[in-house]
Amino acid sequence: MRVGILGAGQMAGALGAGWTEAGHDVLLGARAVGKAVGLAEAIAGEQFGAAGSASADGGAGGTIRGGTLREAAEFGEVLLLAVPAAAVAEALAAAGAADKILDDRVLVDCTNAFAPDQAAKEGTMAFVLSEDALAERIAALAPGAHVVKAFNLCAAEVWQSGTRIFEDRRLAVPLCGDDPDAVLRVAALVSDLGLAPIHAGGLGRARYLEAASAFVVSLWFAGEDARAMFPPLEAAFAVPDAGECSR
Ligand SMILES: NC(=O)c1ccc[n+]([C@@H]2O[C@H](COP(=O)([O-])OP(=O)(O)OC[C@H]3O[C@@H](n4cnc5c(N)ncnc54)[C@H](OP(=O)(O)O)[C@@H]3O)[C@@H](O)[C@H]2O)c1
Repeated sequence: MRVGILGAGQMAGALGAGWTEAGHDVLLGARAVGKAVGLAEAIAGEQFGAAGSASADGGAGGTIRGGTLREAAEFGEVLLLAVPAAAVAEALAAAGAADKILDDRVLVDCTNAFAPDQAAKEGTMAFVLSEDALAERIAALAPGAHVVKAFNLCAAEVWQSGTRIFEDRRLAVPLCGDDPDAVLRVAALVSDLGLAPIHAGGLGRARYLEAASAFVVSLWFAGEDARAMFPPLEAAFAVPDAGECSR
């Protein structure tokens, strides 16, 4: 698949490297082209030993190169938006939203609108959201694109790491999007990274995923094991539902 990435920071590098390794062709786009080219060369060098080229031994690797935001948008059948929340409008405009470049593209939204929680105890790091429904705003800024929220729950380092199984369970990636074909394409990209896609409803549910991220990441920064809060599925409703509630 051809993947265009809008941004050349941590998330762009982590996911772009994984998709290249999985055999996809990636174009990283940034407002500072040199940064995108440098990151692409670093990833290609690590994976293939030669900048921007497919694996020298004819293996399964794809290609990766850098360019402008517009070039990334024109290149990708699927696009990843990987810029700060405050920059989404500017990045989508530079990618060509007004010229309909994003129309019919699958637009993967990994963004979070984190802001420091001013009410948190001094010396602790916790987050609130600077806006409640970022994915919906992105969809409004790129009305012809099929937006799918994904990858916003875990740190870039997690996506970059090769570890996919924790306590015998494959790490899952919830997906929220309205277009079934777009969600399927993103699910395939999730699987290609060795992760497990979970279909988590329409784009209207992405705001809950964004809130969950702020909540869980704040727990992690406080040193709490957020995973310990949840029972496994089979114990999620401890009393089997007999169709009638006695309480
Ligand atoms: N890092 C994580 O662990 C993580 C995890 C989950 C979700 N996220 C979310 O993913 C998104 C990207 O995070 P990141 O950590 O990859 O950020 P990052 O490392 O800071 O990279 C951000 C990228 O956005 C570009 N950018 C900033 N302002 C821009 C503008 N006005 N127009 C065009 N491009 C602009 C930057 O370009 P310049 O270099 O030119 O500034 C850079 O390429 C954020 O919304 C973040 O909340 C991050």
